Amino acid sequence: MTKHPEQPGRPEVPGRSGRPLTVLSVVGARPQFVKLAPVAAAFAATGHRHLIVHTGQHYDTRMSEVFFTDLAIPTPDVHLGVGSGTHGAQTGAMLTALDSVLAERRPDWVLVYGDTNSTLAGTLSAVKQHLRVAHLEAGLRSFNRRMPEEHNRVLTDHAADLLLAPTDAAMAHLSGEGLAGRSVLVGDVMTDVCFGVRDAVAGTPLPAELDEALGGEPGGYLVATVHRADNTDDPARLAAVVDALAGLDEPVALLAHPRLVARCAEFGIDLARPGLHALPPLAYPDMVRAVLGSRGVVTDSGGLQKEAFLLGVPCTTLRTETEWTETLAGGWNVLDPNLTQLKELAARPAPTAERGTPYGDGHAARRTVEALEAG
Ligand code: UD1
Repeated sequence: MTKHPEQPGRPEVPGRSGRPLTVLSVVGARPQFVKLAPVAAAFAATGHRHLIVHTGQHYDTRMSEVFFTDLAIPTPDVHLGVGSGTHGAQTGAMLTALDSVLAERRPDWVLVYGDTNSTLAGTLSAVKQHLRVAHLEAGLRSFNRRMPEEHNRVLTDHAADLLLAPTDAAMAHLSGEGLAGRSVLVGDVMTDVCFGVRDAVAGTPLPAELDEALGGEPGGYLVATVHRADNTDDPARLAAVVDALAGLDEPVALLAHPRLVARCAEFGIDLARPGLHALPPLAYPDMVRAVLGSRGVVTDSGGLQKEAFLLGVPCTTLRTETEWTETLAGGWNVLDPNLTQLKELAARPAPTAERGTPYGDGHAARRTVEALEAG
């Protein structure tokens, strides 16, 4: 448990209360570390105190530590080491552990991110202790009640005090649920980090493990990820997804989430096929570089759909719906839940349609800090 050193020489920027704020971020899963990076950097430029609590939902080095290192995120102040479990057991263990941490620190704001079990646990622990909760990436909806993420985001939005929305569509969802009075449009913090990293990796060589897997051949390849329970937890569905990826015309770099690897082993599904290269998850800058160099992305990840869009790479999504509906405009992202058109969709060229800037201007983290100051 490391404490941040005080930041000498930093100007004191008071919140509305007239004093610097203490804000405590709760994170635990890979996409939250990406969102945390620009927020931590924005806080570091103020006199506010920013504490980080890592629940330990993701614990493999490649799912957690590399993000802190590569994205220069300060070491968490507290690590709960909760690990895996059923949804109830995992969320419950986080809730128990967070109760005493929040009771001890009593921050002005608890900041939760996205839609994971860590988000819900942070929210519940905070509201029950009458601590104010701000939800970053509020208002996203898939309207698919089978998804654990949908339960987490709906419950979090309705419990939180301040809803920091990434898009106009998210603001409209919140308004439709009677939450407009607590909602602020700040933009998408993933745009902040994605554009910064894109500019840093442009022109660099492909990540060595990817280059090696592809045999050093220049030319087309696809980036694929699969980890949603609806795709991984039914043996027939998972076999169909892996077969479909192996049947694509171009080599596929399958960046394999631990859940995918575990389920394939359990169901006896072989990932080693000609043209299908299963690789461990990539660090964030390597992922951005891999997508930039690819012909297309095939995924069920929310974040990767949007990163493909931001980077101008066509995406095919193996789900019945997407929360990031703006990516569908102009055919940049196409849903193919039944895998019936995957071969053609994965081979399509990049659309020519303008993408616009539905995910903001890359300054969402700064606006997040301002919203907390004003709240
Ligand atoms: C979680 C989030 C999901 C997010 C995803 C990003 C929930 C409900 N879901 O899903 O919204 O898109 O993270 O990756 O919170 N495992 C490891 N090592 C790790 C982490 C996980 O081996 O570092 C394995 C464990 O066997 C675990 C399984 O992966 O049971 C699933 O992990 P879990 O955190 O439960 O959910 P994710 O599928 O990662």
